[in-house]
Amino acid sequence: MTSSARRYHITTFGCQMNKADSERMAGILEDLGFEWSEAAEEADLVLYNTCTIRDNAEQKVYSYLGRQAKRKQEQPNLTLIVAGCVAQQEGEQLLRRVPELDLVMGSQYANCLGDLLEQVFNGAQVVATEPIQIVEDITKPRRGSTVTGWVNVIYGCNERCTYCVVPGVRGVEQSRTPAAIRAEIVSLAEQGFKEITLLGQNIDAYGRDLPGATPEGRHQHTLTDLLYFIHDVPGIERIRFATSHPRYFTERLIRACAELPKVCEHFHIPFQSGDNEILKAMARGYTQEKYRRIIHTIRSYMPDAAISADAIVGFPGETEAQFANTLQLVEEIGFDLLNTAAYSPRPGTPAARWDNQISEAVKSDRLQRLNHLVSQSAAARSQRYLGRTEEVLVEDQNSKDPSQVMGRTRGNRLTFFPGDLAQLKGKLVTVKITQVRPFSLTGEPMVAATTHQLN
Ligand code: SAH
Ligand code: SF4
Ligand code: F3S
Repeated sequence: MTSSARRYHITTFGCQMNKADSERMAGILEDLGFEWSEAAEEADLVLYNTCTIRDNAEQKVYSYLGRQAKRKQEQPNLTLIVAGCVAQQEGEQLLRRVPELDLVMGSQYANCLGDLLEQVFNGAQVVATEPIQIVEDITKPRRGSTVTGWVNVIYGCNERCTYCVVPGVRGVEQSRTPAAIRAEIVSLAEQGFKEITLLGQNIDAYGRDLPGATPEGRHQHTLTDLLYFIHDVPGIERIRFATSHPRYFTERLIRACAELPKVCEHFHIPFQSGDNEILKAMARGYTQEKYRRIIHTIRSYMPDAAISADAIVGFPGETEAQFANTLQLVEEIGFDLLNTAAYSPRPGTPAARWDNQISEAVKSDRLQRLNHLVSQSAAARSQRYLGRTEEVLVEDQNSKDPSQVMGRTRGNRLTFFPGDLAQLKGKLVTVKITQVRPFSLTGEPMVAATTHQLN
Protein backbone atom coordinates (compact mmCIF):
# COMPACT_ATOMS: atom_id res chain seq x y z
CA MET A 1 0.00 0.00 0.00
CA THR A 2 1.33 3.47 -0.79
CA SER A 3 2.30 5.48 2.25
CA SER A 4 1.49 8.90 0.78
CA ALA A 5 -1.84 10.72 1.15
CA ARG A 6 -4.82 8.41 0.83
CA ARG A 7 -7.82 10.18 -0.53
CA TYR A 8 -10.71 8.55 -2.37
CA HIS A 9 -13.34 9.73 -4.76
CA ILE A 10 -16.51 7.92 -5.88
CA THR A 11 -18.74 8.98 -8.76
CA THR A 12 -22.05 7.14 -8.83
CA PHE A 13 -24.15 6.62 -11.95
CA GLY A 14 -27.58 5.01 -12.19
CA CYS A 15 -30.26 4.08 -9.70
CA GLN A 16 -30.76 4.28 -5.93
CA MET A 17 -29.40 0.76 -5.60
CA ASN A 18 -26.06 2.01 -6.91
CA LYS A 19 -26.20 5.02 -4.61
CA ALA A 20 -26.78 2.75 -1.63
CA ASP A 21 -23.89 0.49 -2.73
CA SER A 22 -21.63 3.54 -3.05
CA GLU A 23 -22.45 4.64 0.49
CA ARG A 24 -21.43 1.23 1.78
CA MET A 25 -18.23 1.19 -0.30
CA ALA A 26 -17.37 4.69 0.97
CA GLY A 27 -17.87 3.39 4.52
CA ILE A 28 -15.42 0.56 3.84
CA LEU A 29 -12.83 2.96 2.39
CA GLU A 30 -13.11 5.28 5.39
CA ASP A 31 -12.69 2.29 7.65
CA LEU A 32 -9.41 1.64 5.83
CA GLY A 33 -8.30 5.20 6.57
CA PHE A 34 -9.15 6.87 3.27
CA GLU A 35 -10.50 10.41 3.28
CA TRP A 36 -13.14 11.77 0.92
CA SER A 37 -12.02 13.97 -1.97
CA GLU A 38 -14.70 15.92 -3.80
CA ALA A 39 -12.45 16.26 -6.85
CA ALA A 40 -11.60 13.04 -8.68
CA GLU A 41 -8.36 14.62 -9.93
CA GLU A 42 -7.02 15.01 -6.39
CA ALA A 43 -7.83 11.50 -5.23
CA ASP A 44 -5.42 8.57 -4.88
CA LEU A 45 -8.24 6.12 -5.39
CA VAL A 46 -11.01 6.75 -7.91
CA LEU A 47 -14.04 4.45 -8.01
CA TYR A 48 -16.73 4.68 -10.67
CA ASN A 49 -19.91 2.90 -9.66
CA THR A 50 -21.48 2.41 -13.04
CA CYS A 51 -24.84 1.97 -14.79
CA THR A 52 -25.61 0.27 -18.09
CA ILE A 53 -29.39 0.54 -18.24
CA ARG A 54 -29.16 2.46 -21.55
CA ASP A 55 -26.34 2.94 -24.01
CA ASN A 56 -25.81 6.60 -23.11
CA ALA A 57 -25.33 5.65 -19.45
CA GLU A 58 -22.62 3.18 -20.45
CA GLN A 59 -20.85 5.62 -22.79
CA LYS A 60 -20.70 8.25 -20.05
CA VAL A 61 -18.67 5.82 -17.96
CA TYR A 62 -16.07 5.36 -20.71
CA SER A 63 -15.56 9.08 -21.10
CA TYR A 64 -15.00 9.56 -17.35
CA LEU A 65 -12.73 6.54 -17.28
CA GLY A 66 -10.65 7.78 -20.21
CA ARG A 67 -9.64 10.89 -18.26
CA GLN A 68 -8.53 8.91 -15.21
CA ALA A 69 -6.68 6.33 -17.31
CA LYS A 70 -4.66 9.16 -18.82
CA ARG A 71 -3.92 10.54 -15.38
CA LYS A 72 -2.74 7.15 -14.24
CA GLN A 73 -0.07 7.11 -16.91
CA GLU A 74 1.53 10.06 -15.10
CA GLN A 75 0.57 8.95 -11.58
CA PRO A 76 1.05 5.19 -11.44
CA ASN A 77 0.07 5.15 -7.75
CA LEU A 78 -3.50 6.06 -8.62
CA THR A 79 -5.87 3.18 -7.88
CA LEU A 80 -8.59 2.97 -10.49
CA ILE A 81 -11.76 0.94 -9.89
CA VAL A 82 -14.89 0.25 -11.93
CA ALA A 83 -17.74 -1.16 -9.88
CA GLY A 84 -21.40 -1.77 -10.57
CA CYS A 85 -23.34 -2.74 -13.65
CA VAL A 86 -20.89 -1.92 -16.47
CA ALA A 87 -18.21 -3.80 -14.53
CA GLN A 88 -20.50 -6.82 -14.28
CA GLN A 89 -21.55 -6.64 -17.92
CA GLU A 90 -18.08 -6.19 -19.41
CA GLY A 91 -15.88 -8.05 -16.90
CA GLU A 92 -12.42 -8.81 -18.28
CA GLN A 93 -13.17 -7.01 -21.51
CA LEU A 94 -12.96 -3.80 -19.51
CA LEU A 95 -9.33 -4.56 -18.69
CA ARG A 96 -8.57 -4.97 -22.36
CA ARG A 97 -10.29 -1.70 -23.13
CA VAL A 98 -8.76 0.19 -20.19
CA PRO A 99 -5.56 -1.65 -19.12
CA GLU A 100 -4.91 1.03 -16.47
CA LEU A 101 -7.72 -0.42 -14.33
CA ASP A 102 -6.79 -2.06 -11.02
CA LEU A 103 -10.14 -3.55 -10.13
CA VAL A 104 -13.35 -4.47 -11.95
CA MET A 105 -16.08 -5.51 -9.53
CA GLY A 106 -19.76 -6.37 -9.99
CA SER A 107 -22.42 -4.98 -7.66
CA GLN A 108 -22.63 -8.18 -5.65
CA TYR A 109 -19.07 -7.48 -4.46
CA ALA A 110 -19.76 -4.01 -3.02
CA ASN A 111 -19.47 -5.25 0.56
CA CYS A 112 -16.22 -7.11 -0.31
CA LEU A 113 -14.35 -4.00 -1.45
CA GLY A 114 -11.90 -4.25 1.46
CA ASP A 115 -10.75 -7.80 0.57
CA LEU A 116 -10.52 -6.98 -3.12
CA LEU A 117 -8.41 -3.90 -2.42
CA GLU A 118 -6.02 -5.97 -0.37
CA GLN A 119 -5.36 -8.09 -3.46
CA VAL A 120 -4.89 -4.92 -5.52
CA PHE A 121 -2.41 -3.45 -3.03
CA ASN A 122 -0.54 -6.76 -3.17
CA GLY A 123 0.03 -6.08 -6.84
CA ALA A 124 -2.83 -7.93 -8.55
CA GLN A 125 -5.18 -6.67 -11.23
CA VAL A 126 -8.52 -8.07 -10.09
CA VAL A 127 -11.81 -8.94 -11.82
CA ALA A 128 -14.63 -9.94 -9.47
CA THR A 129 -17.77 -10.75 -11.41
CA GLU A 130 -18.60 -14.37 -10.50
CA PRO A 131 -22.09 -14.56 -8.96
CA ILE A 132 -21.85 -14.79 -5.17
CA GLN A 133 -24.02 -14.86 -2.10
CA ILE A 134 -24.09 -11.24 -0.95
CA VAL A 135 -22.50 -10.86 2.46
CA GLU A 136 -24.04 -8.66 5.12
CA ASP A 137 -22.18 -5.40 5.45
CA ILE A 138 -20.39 -4.99 8.77
CA THR A 139 -18.98 -1.50 8.31
CA LYS A 140 -20.94 1.71 8.66
CA PRO A 141 -21.95 3.25 5.33
CA ARG A 142 -20.96 6.85 4.66
CA ARG A 143 -24.47 8.17 4.04
CA GLY A 144 -25.15 11.08 1.73
CA SER A 145 -27.80 12.46 4.10
CA THR A 146 -28.27 12.48 7.87
CA VAL A 147 -32.06 12.69 7.60
CA THR A 148 -33.15 10.19 4.94
CA GLY A 149 -31.49 6.82 4.42
CA TRP A 150 -31.74 3.92 2.00
CA VAL A 151 -32.11 0.37 3.20
CA ASN A 152 -31.62 -2.47 0.74
CA VAL A 153 -34.13 -5.23 1.32
CA ILE A 154 -33.70 -7.35 -1.80
CA TYR A 155 -30.84 -7.46 -4.30
CA GLY A 156 -31.07 -8.66 -7.91
CA CYS A 157 -34.09 -9.43 -10.09
CA ASN A 158 -35.62 -12.68 -11.34
CA GLU A 159 -37.89 -11.05 -13.92
CA ARG A 160 -37.06 -11.29 -17.60
CA CYS A 161 -38.33 -8.05 -19.14
CA THR A 162 -37.08 -8.37 -22.70
CA TYR A 163 -35.41 -4.93 -22.81
CA CYS A 164 -33.62 -5.01 -19.49
CA VAL A 165 -30.01 -5.70 -18.47
CA VAL A 166 -30.67 -5.67 -14.73
CA PRO A 167 -31.18 -9.44 -14.19
CA GLY A 168 -27.93 -10.05 -16.09
CA VAL A 169 -25.88 -7.53 -14.16
CA ARG A 170 -27.47 -7.72 -10.71
CA GLY A 171 -28.00 -11.47 -10.57
CA VAL A 172 -30.74 -13.50 -8.91
CA GLU A 173 -32.94 -12.19 -6.13
CA GLN A 174 -31.39 -12.26 -2.67
CA SER A 175 -33.52 -10.97 0.20
CA ARG A 176 -32.00 -9.80 3.44
CA THR A 177 -33.58 -11.22 6.56
CA PRO A 178 -36.24 -9.15 8.35
CA ALA A 179 -33.97 -9.13 11.42
CA ALA A 180 -30.98 -7.68 9.52
CA ILE A 181 -33.22 -5.04 7.91
CA ARG A 182 -34.77 -4.04 11.22
CA ALA A 183 -31.35 -3.86 12.87
CA GLU A 184 -30.14 -1.45 10.18
CA ILE A 185 -33.24 0.72 10.60
CA VAL A 186 -32.83 0.77 14.39
CA SER A 187 -29.23 1.87 13.92
CA LEU A 188 -30.32 4.60 11.49
CA ALA A 189 -32.90 5.84 13.98
CA GLU A 190 -30.27 5.93 16.72
CA GLN A 191 -28.09 8.09 14.48
CA GLY A 192 -30.99 10.52 14.10
CA PHE A 193 -32.36 9.50 10.68
CA LYS A 194 -36.06 10.26 10.28
CA GLU A 195 -37.00 8.71 6.95
CA ILE A 196 -36.06 5.44 5.30
CA THR A 197 -36.62 4.12 1.80
CA LEU A 198 -36.64 0.37 1.39
CA LEU A 199 -34.94 -0.58 -1.86
CA GLY A 200 -35.23 -3.37 -4.40
CA GLN A 201 -35.38 -3.53 -8.21
CA ASN A 202 -38.58 -5.50 -7.78
CA ILE A 203 -39.41 -4.90 -4.16
CA ASP A 204 -42.65 -6.87 -4.34
CA ALA A 205 -40.50 -9.97 -4.75
CA TYR A 206 -39.15 -9.41 -1.25
CA GLY A 207 -38.90 -12.61 0.77
CA ARG A 208 -39.79 -15.15 -1.89
CA ASP A 209 -36.26 -16.58 -1.72
CA LEU A 210 -36.20 -16.75 2.09
CA PRO A 211 -36.80 -20.01 3.93
CA GLY A 212 -40.40 -20.37 4.98
CA ALA A 213 -41.78 -19.90 1.50
CA THR A 214 -44.29 -22.50 0.39
CA PRO A 215 -44.40 -23.54 -3.28
CA GLU A 216 -48.12 -22.88 -3.68
CA GLY A 217 -49.16 -20.51 -0.90
CA ARG A 218 -48.09 -17.04 0.04
CA HIS A 219 -44.52 -16.80 1.27
CA GLN A 220 -44.19 -15.90 4.91
CA HIS A 221 -42.01 -12.84 4.47
CA THR A 222 -43.72 -10.50 2.04
CA LEU A 223 -43.04 -6.77 1.69
CA THR A 224 -46.34 -6.22 3.52
CA ASP A 225 -45.18 -8.35 6.46
CA LEU A 226 -41.90 -6.47 6.44
CA LEU A 227 -43.68 -3.12 6.69
CA TYR A 228 -45.59 -4.31 9.76
CA PHE A 229 -42.37 -5.75 11.20
CA ILE A 230 -40.34 -2.53 10.95
CA HIS A 231 -43.06 0.05 11.40
CA ASP A 232 -42.65 0.66 15.10
CA VAL A 233 -38.92 1.49 15.10
CA PRO A 234 -38.85 4.54 17.38
CA GLY A 235 -37.48 7.74 15.85
CA ILE A 236 -38.27 6.81 12.26
CA GLU A 237 -41.13 9.06 11.11
CA ARG A 238 -41.50 8.12 7.47
CA ILE A 239 -41.17 4.95 5.44
CA ARG A 240 -41.05 4.70 1.64
CA PHE A 241 -40.26 1.83 -0.70
CA ALA A 242 -39.29 1.37 -4.36
CA THR A 243 -39.54 -0.03 -7.00
CA SER A 244 -42.96 -1.68 -7.20
CA HIS A 245 -43.88 -4.10 -9.97
CA PRO A 246 -47.51 -4.08 -11.18
CA ARG A 247 -47.36 -7.83 -11.70
CA TYR A 248 -47.02 -8.52 -7.98
CA PHE A 249 -48.55 -5.43 -6.36
CA THR A 250 -51.27 -6.57 -3.94
CA GLU A 251 -54.31 -5.00 -2.32
CA ARG A 252 -52.96 -6.33 0.97
CA LEU A 253 -49.93 -4.06 0.50
CA ILE A 254 -52.17 -1.09 -0.34
CA ARG A 255 -54.21 -1.72 2.82
CA ALA A 256 -51.04 -1.86 4.90
CA CYS A 257 -49.88 1.46 3.47
CA ALA A 258 -53.22 3.05 4.28
CA GLU A 259 -53.20 1.57 7.78
CA LEU A 260 -49.62 2.25 8.82
CA PRO A 261 -49.21 5.96 9.58
CA LYS A 262 -45.48 6.17 8.86
CA VAL A 263 -45.76 4.70 5.37
CA CYS A 264 -45.99 7.64 2.98
CA GLU A 265 -48.78 7.90 0.39
CA HIS A 266 -46.28 7.74 -2.43
CA PHE A 267 -45.96 4.90 -4.92
CA HIS A 268 -43.40 4.37 -7.65
CA ILE A 269 -44.92 1.81 -10.00
CA PRO A 270 -43.44 1.77 -13.51
CA PHE A 271 -45.91 0.79 -16.23
CA GLN A 272 -43.43 1.02 -19.19
CA SER A 273 -46.17 1.06 -21.85
CA GLY A 274 -49.91 1.72 -22.04
CA ASP A 275 -50.38 -0.87 -24.79
CA ASN A 276 -51.16 -4.52 -24.08
CA GLU A 277 -49.33 -5.92 -27.13
CA ILE A 278 -46.19 -4.00 -26.22
CA LEU A 279 -46.49 -5.03 -22.56
CA LYS A 280 -46.68 -8.63 -23.73
CA ALA A 281 -43.61 -8.23 -25.95
CA MET A 282 -41.84 -6.69 -22.96
CA ALA A 283 -42.83 -9.78 -20.89
CA ARG A 284 -44.13 -7.54 -18.12
CA GLY A 285 -46.87 -9.91 -17.03
CA TYR A 286 -49.78 -7.45 -16.71
CA THR A 287 -52.19 -5.49 -18.89
CA GLN A 288 -52.83 -1.76 -18.88
CA GLU A 289 -56.27 -2.56 -17.42
CA LYS A 290 -54.61 -4.24 -14.43
CA TYR A 291 -52.33 -1.24 -14.01
CA ARG A 292 -55.30 1.10 -13.97
CA ARG A 293 -57.05 -1.11 -11.42
CA ILE A 294 -54.03 -0.91 -9.11
CA ILE A 295 -53.98 2.88 -9.27
CA HIS A 296 -57.74 2.97 -8.78
CA THR A 297 -57.46 0.77 -5.69
CA ILE A 298 -54.63 2.90 -4.26
CA ARG A 299 -56.75 6.00 -4.76
CA SER A 300 -59.81 4.40 -3.22
CA TYR A 301 -57.83 3.85 0.00
CA MET A 302 -55.67 7.00 -0.23
CA PRO A 303 -57.40 9.56 -2.51
CA ASP A 304 -54.44 11.92 -2.50
CA ALA A 305 -51.65 9.38 -3.03
CA ALA A 306 -48.75 10.53 -5.21
CA ILE A 307 -48.08 8.19 -8.13
CA SER A 308 -44.84 8.10 -10.06
CA ALA A 309 -43.68 5.69 -12.75
CA ASP A 310 -41.25 4.91 -15.57
CA ALA A 311 -42.12 4.53 -19.24
CA ILE A 312 -40.26 3.52 -22.38
CA VAL A 313 -41.10 4.84 -25.85
CA GLY A 314 -40.05 3.29 -29.14
CA PHE A 315 -39.87 -0.31 -27.97
CA PRO A 316 -39.29 -2.60 -31.01
CA GLY A 317 -42.42 -2.74 -33.15
CA GLU A 318 -44.24 0.08 -31.34
CA THR A 319 -46.74 1.64 -33.78
CA GLU A 320 -48.06 5.17 -33.58
CA ALA A 321 -51.38 3.78 -32.30
CA GLN A 322 -49.61 1.78 -29.59
CA PHE A 323 -47.64 4.85 -28.55
CA ALA A 324 -50.94 6.75 -28.42
CA ASN A 325 -52.12 4.22 -25.81
CA THR A 326 -49.19 5.25 -23.62
CA LEU A 327 -50.12 8.92 -24.05
CA GLN A 328 -53.70 8.10 -23.16
CA LEU A 329 -52.73 6.23 -20.01
CA VAL A 330 -50.50 9.11 -18.90
CA GLU A 331 -53.26 11.60 -19.54
CA GLU A 332 -55.89 9.59 -17.71
CA ILE A 333 -53.87 8.57 -14.65
CA GLY A 334 -52.27 11.95 -13.95
CA PHE A 335 -48.79 11.11 -12.68
CA ASP A 336 -46.97 13.27 -10.18
CA LEU A 337 -43.70 12.27 -11.81
CA LEU A 338 -42.82 10.10 -14.78
CA ASN A 339 -39.31 9.05 -15.79
CA THR A 340 -39.33 8.61 -19.53
CA ALA A 341 -36.76 7.04 -21.83
CA ALA A 342 -36.34 6.11 -25.46
CA TYR A 343 -35.81 2.37 -25.86
CA SER A 344 -32.12 1.51 -26.00
CA PRO A 345 -31.09 -1.95 -27.28
CA ARG A 346 -28.91 -3.60 -24.63
CA PRO A 347 -26.35 -6.38 -25.03
CA GLY A 348 -27.61 -9.83 -24.11
CA THR A 349 -31.30 -8.86 -24.00
CA PRO A 350 -33.88 -10.51 -26.30
CA ALA A 351 -35.46 -7.31 -27.68
CA ALA A 352 -32.07 -6.04 -28.89
CA ARG A 353 -31.95 -8.90 -31.41
CA TRP A 354 -35.38 -8.30 -32.92
CA ASP A 355 -35.51 -6.89 -36.42
CA ASN A 356 -38.40 -4.47 -35.83
CA GLN A 357 -36.34 -1.70 -34.20
CA ILE A 358 -37.73 1.83 -34.33
CA SER A 359 -35.63 4.61 -35.86
CA GLU A 360 -33.90 7.10 -33.56
CA ALA A 361 -35.86 9.94 -35.17
CA VAL A 362 -39.22 8.36 -34.32
CA LYS A 363 -38.06 7.48 -30.80
CA SER A 364 -36.93 11.01 -30.03
CA ASP A 365 -40.10 12.49 -31.50
CA ARG A 366 -42.24 10.24 -29.28
CA LEU A 367 -40.08 10.99 -26.26
CA GLN A 368 -40.59 14.72 -26.78
CA ARG A 369 -44.33 14.35 -27.14
CA LEU A 370 -44.56 12.23 -24.02
CA ASN A 371 -42.37 14.61 -22.00
CA HIS A 372 -44.55 17.52 -23.02
CA LEU A 373 -47.62 15.72 -21.74
CA VAL A 374 -45.83 14.74 -18.53
CA SER A 375 -44.93 18.31 -17.62
CA GLN A 376 -48.52 19.39 -18.25
CA SER A 377 -49.86 16.61 -16.09
CA ALA A 378 -47.31 17.23 -13.31
CA ALA A 379 -48.22 20.92 -13.32
CA ALA A 380 -51.89 20.03 -12.99
CA ARG A 381 -51.12 17.62 -10.13
CA SER A 382 -49.07 20.34 -8.41
CA GLN A 383 -52.06 22.70 -8.48
CA ARG A 384 -53.86 20.64 -5.87
CA TYR A 385 -51.23 21.62 -3.31
CA LEU A 386 -51.90 25.36 -3.60
CA GLY A 387 -53.21 26.77 -0.32
CA ARG A 388 -52.97 23.43 1.43
CA THR A 389 -50.91 22.64 4.50
CA GLU A 390 -48.35 19.90 4.04
CA GLU A 391 -46.01 18.11 6.39
CA VAL A 392 -42.42 18.69 5.20
CA LEU A 393 -39.38 16.81 6.49
CA VAL A 394 -36.47 19.26 6.32
CA GLU A 395 -33.38 17.79 4.68
CA ASP A 396 -31.15 20.63 3.56
CA GLN A 397 -30.75 24.23 2.52
CA ASN A 398 -32.25 25.46 -0.74
CA SER A 399 -29.04 25.53 -2.80
CA LYS A 400 -30.36 28.51 -4.77
CA ASP A 401 -31.53 30.54 -1.77
CA PRO A 402 -29.75 30.12 1.59
CA SER A 403 -32.59 31.86 3.44
CA GLN A 404 -34.75 28.86 2.61
CA VAL A 405 -34.67 25.21 3.59
CA MET A 406 -35.79 22.30 1.45
CA GLY A 407 -37.57 19.08 2.22
CA ARG A 408 -40.23 16.79 0.89
CA THR A 409 -43.93 16.31 1.48
CA ARG A 410 -45.24 12.85 2.28
CA GLY A 411 -46.09 12.61 -1.42
CA ASN A 412 -42.39 13.27 -2.18
CA ARG A 413 -42.90 16.79 -3.66
CA LEU A 414 -39.78 18.90 -3.24
CA THR A 415 -40.76 21.90 -1.07
CA PHE A 416 -38.94 25.11 -0.13
CA PHE A 417 -39.77 27.53 2.67
CA PRO A 418 -38.00 30.28 4.67
CA GLY A 419 -36.13 28.90 7.65
CA ASP A 420 -32.85 28.16 9.36
CA LEU A 421 -31.36 24.78 8.55
CA ALA A 422 -29.43 24.56 11.83
CA GLN A 423 -32.74 24.68 13.68
CA LEU A 424 -34.92 22.72 11.32
CA LYS A 425 -32.83 19.89 9.86
CA GLY A 426 -34.55 16.57 10.44
CA LYS A 427 -37.73 18.23 11.72
CA LEU A 428 -41.27 17.75 10.44
CA VAL A 429 -42.70 21.18 9.76
CA THR A 430 -46.25 22.07 8.77
CA VAL A 431 -46.04 24.32 5.74
CA LYS A 432 -48.73 26.29 3.95
CA ILE A 433 -48.14 26.04 0.21
CA THR A 434 -48.13 29.41 -1.51
CA GLN A 435 -46.52 28.70 -4.90
CA VAL A 436 -46.60 25.64 -7.13
CA ARG A 437 -44.36 24.58 -10.02
CA PRO A 438 -44.64 21.29 -11.97
CA PHE A 439 -42.13 19.43 -9.80
CA SER A 440 -41.68 21.61 -6.69
CA LEU A 441 -43.54 23.81 -4.21
CA THR A 442 -42.83 26.88 -2.05
CA GLY A 443 -44.58 27.75 1.19
CA GLU A 444 -44.57 29.38 4.61
CA PRO A 445 -44.12 27.49 7.89
CA MET A 446 -47.41 27.54 9.82
CA VAL A 447 -45.84 28.06 13.23
CA ALA A 448 -42.24 29.15 12.86
CA ALA A 449 -39.83 26.41 13.85
CA THR A 450 -42.47 24.37 15.65
CA THR A 451 -42.60 20.73 14.82
CA HIS A 452 -44.89 17.89 15.54
CA GLN A 453 -44.21 14.23 16.03
CA LEU A 454 -46.02 11.38 14.38
CA ASN A 455 -45.79 9.07 17.33
N1 SAH B 1 -37.12 -2.60 -11.72
C1 SAH B 1 -37.78 -1.51 -12.28
C2 SAH B 1 -36.97 -0.78 -13.32
C3 SAH B 1 -35.50 -0.74 -13.24
S1 SAH B 1 -34.66 0.02 -14.57
C4 SAH B 1 -39.05 -2.00 -12.97
O1 SAH B 1 -39.26 -3.16 -13.14
O2 SAH B 1 -39.83 -1.18 -13.35
C5 SAH B 1 -35.29 1.67 -14.51
C6 SAH B 1 -36.04 2.07 -15.74
O3 SAH B 1 -35.18 2.15 -16.85
C7 SAH B 1 -37.10 1.10 -16.18
O4 SAH B 1 -38.26 1.26 -15.46
C8 SAH B 1 -37.28 1.43 -17.64
O5 SAH B 1 -38.27 2.40 -17.81
C9 SAH B 1 -35.92 1.97 -18.03
N2 SAH B 1 -35.22 1.03 -18.90
C10 SAH B 1 -34.77 -0.20 -18.59
N3 SAH B 1 -34.19 -0.77 -19.67
C11 SAH B 1 -34.29 0.11 -20.68
C12 SAH B 1 -33.88 0.11 -22.06
N4 SAH B 1 -33.28 -0.94 -22.59
N5 SAH B 1 -34.14 1.20 -22.80
C13 SAH B 1 -34.76 2.28 -22.25
N6 SAH B 1 -35.16 2.33 -20.97
C14 SAH B 1 -34.94 1.27 -20.19
FE1 SF4 C 1 -35.55 -4.95 -15.33
FE2 SF4 C 1 -37.96 -5.99 -15.39
FE3 SF4 C 1 -36.31 -6.62 -13.39
FE4 SF4 C 1 -37.35 -4.17 -13.54
S1 SF4 C 1 -38.48 -6.08 -13.24
S2 SF4 C 1 -35.23 -4.69 -13.15
S3 SF4 C 1 -37.43 -3.81 -15.73
S4 SF4 C 1 -36.05 -7.15 -15.56
FE1 F3S D 1 -28.27 1.12 -13.82
FE2 F3S D 1 -27.54 -1.07 -12.64
FE3 F3S D 1 -29.30 0.49 -11.49
S1 F3S D 1 -27.88 -0.83 -14.79
S2 F3S D 1 -30.33 1.44 -13.20
S3 F3S D 1 -27.21 1.00 -11.90
S4 F3S D 1 -29.26 -1.71 -11.44
